[in-house]
Amino acid sequence: MCSPVSPCRSGTGWQWITTPDSANRASMLSRTDTRARGLADLPPVENDSLLALIALCDADPRPEKIDVGVGVFRDAVGNTPILKVMKEAEQRLVDMQVTKAYLGSAGDKRFAELLRPILLGNHADDESILGLQTPGGCGALRLGFELIATANPQARVLVGTPTWPNHPPIIRSVRLDMVEYPYYERGQGAIRFEDMVAALEAGEPGDVALLHGCCHNPTGADLSEDQWREVVRVVTARGLFPLIDIAYQGFGRGLDEDAFGVRLMLDACEEVIVAQSCDKNFSVYRDRVGSLWIKTGSAEASKKAMAHVHQRAREMWSMPPDHGAAAVHIILEDPDLHERWLVELAAMRDRINSVRQRIAAADPRLAFIGRQFGMFSMLPLTREQVLKLREDDAIYMADSGRFNVVGLGDDQIDRFIAAVVGALDA
Ligand SMILES: Cc1ncc(COP(=O)(O)O)c(C=O)c1O
Repeated sequence: MCSPVSPCRSGTGWQWITTPDSANRASMLSRTDTRARGLADLPPVENDSLLALIALCDADPRPEKIDVGVGVFRDAVGNTPILKVMKEAEQRLVDMQVTKAYLGSAGDKRFAELLRPILLGNHADDESILGLQTPGGCGALRLGFELIATANPQARVLVGTPTWPNHPPIIRSVRLDMVEYPYYERGQGAIRFEDMVAALEAGEPGDVALLHGCCHNPTGADLSEDQWREVVRVVTARGLFPLIDIAYQGFGRGLDEDAFGVRLMLDACEEVIVAQSCDKNFSVYRDRVGSLWIKTGSAEASKKAMAHVHQRAREMWSMPPDHGAAAVHIILEDPDLHERWLVELAAMRDRINSVRQRIAAADPRLAFIGRQFGMFSMLPLTREQVLKLREDDAIYMADSGRFNVVGLGDDQIDRFIAAVVGALDA
């Protein structure tokens, strides 16, 4: 049987059957001549280039192949291990969890409370900042942009180039317009800061400034503290709406240092949105753990905004998956596990930074990599050079030259450097 909103086939093609009032019915019936499209008529989807790259690398039989395309942390021998504290927390979860009954659209409220001081620092007690659990950083971004589109559908989103390739599709999905601002000069290995500021200065009040909190993906080029101060000045002077995506807190300089920009923006602006991910710093990628934070001018207004956030979450996923956040909750609640998480996080950060230093020391043209943060950097290679590295040396990186510095096992670093320097010399 057809529901009031589902299409049914009639003799003449597709017809939308509705039960409500007659005016509505008439307008629906007039559509019988327009043949609605079936699923088979869907256009092909453009491949996600990073997923395609993973598939290509998987299919390469050469044992010496190097995969620096994938965006996960790897240790010295090339594994992405589950953190020891996470294993312990998961075991406790299995032993102690007594129900899997629904939690509601906010997910695990204690999880969000425990994250507050880590992300917000001296703003943790600010009652005008409210947060909720989301399915990863992607879920937080989507929800944040949904809220903006609900409040101000005319807002444009100012997006740096280059940016994480999933930002534009998420923004498009809520039908907000995008305007690019220059962020990074690949050949120079440097932020185009003056151009960035000029582009933000040209924004209209209410436009959204999308910023990476730390460990910029794909470039690794983070704003300095002085540059953050200048960005905050422009954002407040122009009346822009800051949305900060912080997916790698703790992978750059440290938990507090990496949250510098988020906290500075909270100091200065009445309204801020922060999309956060625990998927990297707790190494729970597939478990989808993140959170969304809203600041408005008052606790009252934030509650109202949050009611909209809950409504959107309910429509999209109803409630976030529990397991990963419940395990993070256990770690953060327990002083011993918490302390040991900090040690494991520092070990991941140290590996990232030591691989960076090793690559940077190998050739002056790679020195910029040592001044950057997080897992990613962009090599000044043409697409042809990237493809040649793939073909000749079985080195897999994105066509843009983006590579994951800890995609390299320790025993692969020298070969990688030699191949890249060879490509730069050619
Ligand atoms: C800049 C940036 N934001 C957000 C995300 C999303 O993270 P998650 O896997 O938690 O959805 C990523 C993941 O790669 C990212 O690089």
